[in-house]
Amino acid sequence: MLKINYDAHSSFIEVVIDKLLAANFSVNDSEAVADALESFRPQICLEADCNIFCNKYSHPVTMNNSELIELVVDETISGCLESSNLKRFFDGTDFPTNFTDPSNGLLLMALRTHLVEFFGQVLGCSDGTIGNYNGRNLTEIHKNMPINLATFMEFNQIITDFLATVITNTTDLAFVADYLASLESQICTNCSQPTTTNSPTTTNSPTTTNSPTTTNSPTTTNTPTTTITTTPTITTTPTNTNTNTNTNTPTSTNTPSPSASGVQVLVAFGLLLLSLAF
Ligand code: HEM
Repeated sequence: MLKINYDAHSSFIEVVIDKLLAANFSVNDSEAVADALESFRPQICLEADCNIFCNKYSHPVTMNNSELIELVVDETISGCLESSNLKRFFDGTDFPTNFTDPSNGLLLMALRTHLVEFFGQVLGCSDGTIGNYNGRNLTEIHKNMPINLATFMEFNQIITDFLATVITNTTDLAFVADYLASLESQICTNCSQPTTTNSPTTTNSPTTTNSPTTTNSPTTTNTPTTTITTTPTITTTPTNTNTNTNTNTPTSTNTPSPSASGVQVLVAFGLLLLSLAF
């Protein structure tokens, strides 16, 4: 029994594509072959990391782990800026840094990088394109922000709404939603209080009542690297992989595929290479 993990499977596809490109196959046709090879992943890639969320919805050629997570993070940031409730945390109103000011471009980039690293780690990305989370402890970051339950839920909804546009598997979506909800005690130190007064700037003075380290759930030593690496592994039915990755990939939808027999020959060639390699 071969032990083919996500990286081995992805590397194999990359090798095949490199050979095709070197043999003057067009990029579109090569990607179509990659899609075809990718469709065999559920039957070939059987190690634990093959069905982790991030890998499951990435594609070794057209959308690697970091491209997938960057998409999620960019949608999240723009979703926040489009919401009057959330924008105030990013434009200098409810939090000192104005991320919308072009002179704070570097800070915005750092925030984006940290969010990518965070979600990359949470969602089990393992293709090496995303570094380890290098940001601060979640409680530390958010404790002085007047985030109430409605704000917290709206933020999470932006992420899950976006994921729902590219992921049809409800179990996987529920996994992410549950994970985000589980962070409530770290992000939203005001949430355990009655939400009668929703005027964040007046009532919710986070520094008074909320001592995050005491009120919050057992994970008080929230070194994100330890907290998040354990939970994300999901192994659900991997049948939706191709549909989803194709939706995400603008190039693959409007490119002609090579003929069916051509793909079959290439797939057979690929499988032959695989069996030789392992
Ligand atoms: C599950 C929900 C959330 C997660 C996982 C999350 C995660 C993060 C992460 C990883 C960072 C980067 C930390 C760093 O650069 O060191 C960050 C920063 C930030 N978050 Fe959140 N966050 C969440 C919810 C929220 C909400 C609801 C708001 C406000 C509406 C918010 C506002 C901010 C702001 C303003 C920063 C920048 C802080 C700074 O640069 O000092 N976050 N968040």
